[in-house]
Amino acid sequence: MDRSVKIFQTAFVMAEKMSGILTEMICKHDDVSRPFTVALSGGNTPGLFFSVLSGHFGSQADWSKVHFFFVDERCVPPGHHDSNYRLAREALFDNIRIPGGNIHRIRGEEDPESEAQRYPEEIKDICPVKNGLPAFDVIILGLGEDGHTASIFHGSGQPDSREVVCMTATHPVTRQERISLTLPVLNNAANVFFMVTGRNKAGIVSEIIQPGAAGEKYPASQVRPVRGSLQWLLDRDAASLLTM
Ligand code: 6PG
Repeated sequence: MDRSVKIFQTAFVMAEKMSGILTEMICKHDDVSRPFTVALSGGNTPGLFFSVLSGHFGSQADWSKVHFFFVDERCVPPGHHDSNYRLAREALFDNIRIPGGNIHRIRGEEDPESEAQRYPEEIKDICPVKNGLPAFDVIILGLGEDGHTASIFHGSGQPDSREVVCMTATHPVTRQERISLTLPVLNNAANVFFMVTGRNKAGIVSEIIQPGAAGEKYPASQVRPVRGSLQWLLDRDAASLLTM
């Protein structure tokens, strides 16, 4: 795994950089036998990225080559304020020329256990399988102040079997039910990006990025793509405690 850490003056500049990286990767994708696959996270951070991607880069990529999936979803209907799909639809999908069939939401309104069984089948219809798991071209992650990523929370159980693609989870504070890709799927991707902004994340960022600080303590510390790349994109505030 090759890892890089890039620091940007503002969240906007970081969003522009991530948008440029993604659109360049899409343009360079020349394997006509399969689409380019991207799994998106939710929360607050991605909103600016989605807006910049659609607003400033929307005409720079052939979106018909791209299939979007979700890293995780809250167990709410697709129009709910908390829905990760709603955020992406309003800020990105509705503003680019992408076929509806290229968007694969996790059905938060369904029974979580049933949906955690169903969604992997939708993924496998599109995504190539490597080492027995879906291999996304790009996975974009956020980071919680408690070191969680996706909906993989510190101290919560993870599936025993490495073959599990999707799991259910409960947010430790809000108790909100979630559905999430598992850590082995995150680590099976070709390119994993963390996008982190804000001074409130500076502590956890330095614990996870500084060599040897956190070890494997946090779920986000365990994101180490087996064959892929790991890139941290931080704004100046989130990087403010890094000494490296
Ligand atoms: C979610 C995300 C979650 C998020 C982090 C950071 O569904 O909430 O997948 O992992 O990326 O909690 O969230 P913020 O971007 O809101 O800080």
